[in-house]
Amino acid sequence: LFGPERLNSAGINLSDSRIAEQLQVEFDALAERVWEAHPLIDGRPGHGSKQPVFNPCDRRLQIGEVTYAGPETIGKAGASALQAFPEWRQVPVAERIAYLNRAAGLLEAHRLELVSLCVREGGRSIRDALDEVREAVDFCRYYAAEADQLFGKPARMPGPTGEENYLSQTGRGAVVCISPWNFPIAIFLGQIAGALAAGNTVIAKPAAQTSLTAMRCIRLMHQAGIPAEVLQFLPAEGGLIGSHLLTVPGLGGVVFTGSTATARSINRTLAQHQPAIVPLIAETGGQNAMIADSSAHIEQLVMDALLSAFNSAGQRCSALRVLYMQEEIADRVIGLLTGAMQELNVGDPGLLATDIGPVINAQAANQLASHVEKMRRQANVLYQTPLSPELKHGSFFPPTLIEIDHIGRLEQEVFGPVLHLVRYRANKLAEVIEQINGTGYGLTLGIQSRIQSHIRFIVERARVGNIYINRNMIGAVVGVQPFGGMGLSGTGPKAGGPDYLRRLASEQTVTINS
Ligand code: NAD
Ligand code: ALA
Repeated sequence: LFGPERLNSAGINLSDSRIAEQLQVEFDALAERVWEAHPLIDGRPGHGSKQPVFNPCDRRLQIGEVTYAGPETIGKAGASALQAFPEWRQVPVAERIAYLNRAAGLLEAHRLELVSLCVREGGRSIRDALDEVREAVDFCRYYAAEADQLFGKPARMPGPTGEENYLSQTGRGAVVCISPWNFPIAIFLGQIAGALAAGNTVIAKPAAQTSLTAMRCIRLMHQAGIPAEVLQFLPAEGGLIGSHLLTVPGLGGVVFTGSTATARSINRTLAQHQPAIVPLIAETGGQNAMIADSSAHIEQLVMDALLSAFNSAGQRCSALRVLYMQEEIADRVIGLLTGAMQELNVGDPGLLATDIGPVINAQAANQLASHVEKMRRQANVLYQTPLSPELKHGSFFPPTLIEIDHIGRLEQEVFGPVLHLVRYRANKLAEVIEQINGTGYGLTLGIQSRIQSHIRFIVERARVGNIYINRNMIGAVVGVQPFGGMGLSGTGPKAGGPDYLRRLASEQTVTINS
């Protein structure tokens, strides 16, 4: 039903230099635009506190202003979404699907604006931002296609009772979608598209850091025909959402992507304050490793490790944090990695030539700096890509290479462009896997090996959600590589996979004695 040849968005071919140059010109033309975001409750502006938004690439540049919802507006968003559910529940699946497919078309048509926002507010590179729009389009179309399959008409159940038995699925109610800043388009809209496709009303809570981008996305969803009562928009500070929205009785579910600590807090709030047992889909952090044995193709390994660790300034949940190298190849790998890191172009994410942009804000840069300082005392900091002094007004952090002796040295997810290396002996592969499993996280794992028995050995033992063999470990494709982790990395079901909508729906069996 859904494969690369059928429904995935085509994107833009940036290897064609004429297309790339034209894109850069059009992107630059949007640079002066000033943006605004505020809560939208039943389509009307909600109240709260106004805050300026600055470009993480250059903190002197204000790009817009956001109104963050106060407690009263938050309560209204919850009440309105609950009130809108009974009517939305009756809307035929075909209509929901049409809205989502129309939204996909609008996202493609407004791609450049979204890219501009995502780059200037979220510090994403142009390439990453284009990929995000494409992924969001894929989510809308994939979940629309899935809804058609799952909810199109009740399934007649076979069996010996002599009656007619039908199983159908409907929305659960008002679902709160809470997203992170690192995928301000793809994850933000993926959650919303899934919840709507399954027949729920939605209260969309973007990350505070990327509310301008989110507001533009919501406007397009409304333009596609999704009623404003069905899709409420709530830029707000996370803590207030915990205390004033997740406590509104009668919520149908929560879809969350973000840190493991926040997921725990949400889980506790729901358990304490909701009268029913409210399902939580939580996609959380990772402590992702790659294992490279001596049969690995070294150039490919280095390229894949670089991309996995430093693309998006390392701010992907899927990013590589720890590369385990068999000791026979370790020195060569370090030499090549260091050489390649000297060539990385760190700078303005609004230029196509840039490899690595800023991290999200000064606080994130400071946390990374503290981690590296700690590692200087405990381990061996091998290399940092020099930063140009011109970048001093942005929140940039240099790609960094650190040798450690054990993944357990990392107490928490290091969310930025820092790659750790560990050497291992050939006869210690089982211990390596134990160490990785021992973190408790289980999101992505890379394997670089040409030995099938090694690959099988690792795959059979690793407790992770997505395994990538002889390639990089980022950029899962919707409907093709369902994405999500195990253990501390998430509850499942996988985003962009065939079970996602089921978790967001309620099942009903009707038995007719005719
Ligand atoms: P975060 O947990 O700080 O925030 C995520 C969202 O939760 C934000 O919208 C925030 O405002 C909100 N929030 C914060 N406290 C809340 C509370 N008490 N109640 C309700 N909502 C609250 O995460 P972040 O810094 O925005 O994102 C980075 C994290 O997300 C990393 O850990 C990364 O690994 C993870 N992530 C995971 C995936 C995945 O698919 N597994 C994808 C992207 C990011
Ligand atoms: N789905 C995103 C990736 O695979 C998080 O990088």
